[in-house]
Amino acid sequence: MKTPLQIAVTGAAGQISYALLFRLAAGELAGIDQPVVLRLLEVPEAVAALQGVVMELADCASPVLAGVVVTDDPQIAFQDADLAFLIGAKPRTAGMERRDLLQINAEAFALQGRALNTAAKRDVKVLVVGNPANTNALITLSNAPEISPRNFSSMARLDHNRALSLLATHTGHPVSEVSRVAIWGNHSPTQYPDLHHALVAGRPALEKVELAWYRDVFIPTVQQRGSTIIETRGRSSAGSAAHAALHHMRSWLAGTPENDWVSMGVYSDGSYGIREGLVYSFPVVTADGDYRIVQDLPLDDFDLERMRANEAELLAERDMVRHLLRS
Ligand code: NAD
Ligand code: LMR
Repeated sequence: MKTPLQIAVTGAAGQISYALLFRLAAGELAGIDQPVVLRLLEVPEAVAALQGVVMELADCASPVLAGVVVTDDPQIAFQDADLAFLIGAKPRTAGMERRDLLQINAEAFALQGRALNTAAKRDVKVLVVGNPANTNALITLSNAPEISPRNFSSMARLDHNRALSLLATHTGHPVSEVSRVAIWGNHSPTQYPDLHHALVAGRPALEKVELAWYRDVFIPTVQQRGSTIIETRGRSSAGSAAHAALHHMRSWLAGTPENDWVSMGVYSDGSYGIREGLVYSFPVVTADGDYRIVQDLPLDDFDLERMRANEAELLAERDMVRHLLRS
């Protein structure tokens, strides 16, 4: 019997977690021979509702689920955590931008960073989903100085999946034949969904689509998809967000397929001239539980202008939360 993976999930009574927890309990993250303990964090007011979710988890009788911890104390939630999904945060509603959530959600991430610092395993892998995800990840890692900043990431996988799906639909190919799309920058409308390196059935994607469609339809559709979901559904994305979170962690643990990559918000090491120390989405290759930023992609002025706009936006967000950053 393998040692159970300790998986912390914050905002565990929320809508994304409701779409995630049952999949974790079913073994979709690391396989059905890998037991998991779910360590669920909520605010005190939501703990009672969370107990109902825990009853439902029990009712699945999953052999993968080796235990459940319910708490409103981050120290307990993150105790010996191998993986942490930081989902707990207020979502935006129609008319808001994600950065409008910064002041509302930021303090909780500073607190959770400090708790991860004392309680989690030193090699914990952290995924920040709560918005604005990149800057919340920066706050979290900055408050966890004893854990490598490389262990913290923010979610760009939903944007990456949106880009894959849109390109596949437009070109009439299955998603399995699309590779190497990239999301650069911030999980905001400024993000840069890049098709310059993408392949469709082994051919450059930009040979298969018109440049005008790429620039005037594809890019804004991916950038605005979160808002479109909110306007259409009345609530922010949840099923697709949970799916992206699961796959983000799965890629990080199990690796990316040969000749492909995924997009992850990671601590910038200065690659492509992006300011070191920001949490910025890059195309990354993962293997053996680690990742590396894909290097040496040729970039033109169109790319650089958009990548710089994201850097500037993230620097501005960082300035708004400077009081919560330790370094
Ligand atoms: P939700 O309101 O349904 O659930 C959020 C839960 O978090 C609530 O149960 C709330 O009680 C809990 N919570 C709030 N503060 C907490 C704290 N300090 N500690 C623990 N729990 C806390 O929201 P949701 O739809 O599940 O979305 C959660 C977050 O994810 C939002 O910020 C949303 O904007 C974001 N999101 C990000 C992406 C992405 O791609 N990065 C995609 C979708 C949603
Ligand atoms: C999304 O991209 O769907 C989420 O970040 C939710 C939002 O606020 O757009």
